[in-house]
Amino acid sequence: MGGAVSAGEDNDDLIDNLKEAQYIRTDHVEQAFRAIDRGDYYLVGYRDNAYKDLAWKHGNIHLSAPCIYSEVMEALKLQQGLSFLNLGSGTGYLSTMVGLIIGPFGVNHGVELHRDVVDYAKEKLDDFIKNSDSFDKFEFCEPVFMVGNCLEISSDSHQYDRIYCGAGVQKDHENYMKILLKVGGILVMPIEDQLTQITRTGQCSWESKNILAVSFAPLVQQNRAEGSKPDAVELPPVTVRSLQDLSRIYIRRTLRDLTNKESPDNSLVQRAPQKRKRRRCRRRRINTYVFVGNQLIPQAVESEEDERIEEEQHKEEKEAQEKEAKEEERDIGSIEILKAVNVLRDKIMTLPLPESLKAYLLHYREK
Ligand SMILES: C[S@@+](CC[C@H](N)C(=O)[O-])C[C@H]1O[C@@H](n2cnc3c(N)ncnc32)[C@H](O)[C@@H]1O
Repeated sequence: MGGAVSAGEDNDDLIDNLKEAQYIRTDHVEQAFRAIDRGDYYLVGYRDNAYKDLAWKHGNIHLSAPCIYSEVMEALKLQQGLSFLNLGSGTGYLSTMVGLIIGPFGVNHGVELHRDVVDYAKEKLDDFIKNSDSFDKFEFCEPVFMVGNCLEISSDSHQYDRIYCGAGVQKDHENYMKILLKVGGILVMPIEDQLTQITRTGQCSWESKNILAVSFAPLVQQNRAEGSKPDAVELPPVTVRSLQDLSRIYIRRTLRDLTNKESPDNSLVQRAPQKRKRRRCRRRRINTYVFVGNQLIPQAVESEEDERIEEEQHKEEKEAQEKEAKEEERDIGSIEILKAVNVLRDKIMTLPLPESLKAYLLHYREK
């Protein structure tokens, strides 16, 4: 599935293409996509394919195509403070993007069948929190991933505002999924080869809308050994944040608001400056026509005048290329400046506080 938009050279390029093709339609979804580099969820050596609109599978690791994630993120209608459940949470790419929108007072849970994939997702999440500048630009709801078969969730589980299922759902399991939803909530899942958005409108009523024709690998069914009852999967508890945690959220928020007022350009994830695409256009003077068979074909005839024009064009091209090279150099410089400036971090570092408290406010981030 995928291939709906042209391949990008990097994450920003991919997002530009998804926007242009109308898969990404809202600012907050665009910001989340720009903040998380899809390439970071690939294994080293496979990254080159990360910016193509294609699904990727390697062993148990499986990412859906970017056009699907864009539709899913838009269809979920995410807002701050919502609770989200990701069934088949895989690498954690989608859960991390969702966490940037629902913010610190949301709930972000994922259930994944394979232990090695959950370990991979935890590693990727840790890397994002420790190393990404995007982390300081947003208020984040950290996903909690657990191993289990999402078709075996305990029947007394809490319900969620938003649910996504990343693998094909059989018609038999449609009601099971719908029951996990709070009234007013939205469930997005592939069912009968359609990515479907289901809104729970009442205790016993749902509205359903097909979004996109898709082809997903099906959810792995429960492991029902002879006569045995599968162990129910207990979802992570919804916990209240500690006072210490709340203080950090509010201090960071106050400082971020302050720095955003001082330098508004830093408030959003910036799109890195675009590389100029070289366009070479050779003009030739058409000064004669010849018959080839019964067709009249334009022919450029070399003359001293032509040679002079050719030379001029050559010179112009060379000058343009040199100019481009200089501009690219400047762009790269400004990318580095953009990357180097983490205003929130700088602000925290200047506070007259003990080092241990600064480290806590910075989430012990390494950069
Ligand atoms: C297309 S991938 C989803 C990728 C994910 N959206 C991400 O951001 O990386 C589908 C995932 O569903 C998982 N899966 C399949 N059947 C499952 C089940 N019954 N319970 C839990 N996870 C399941 C697969 O192991 C796989 O990781």
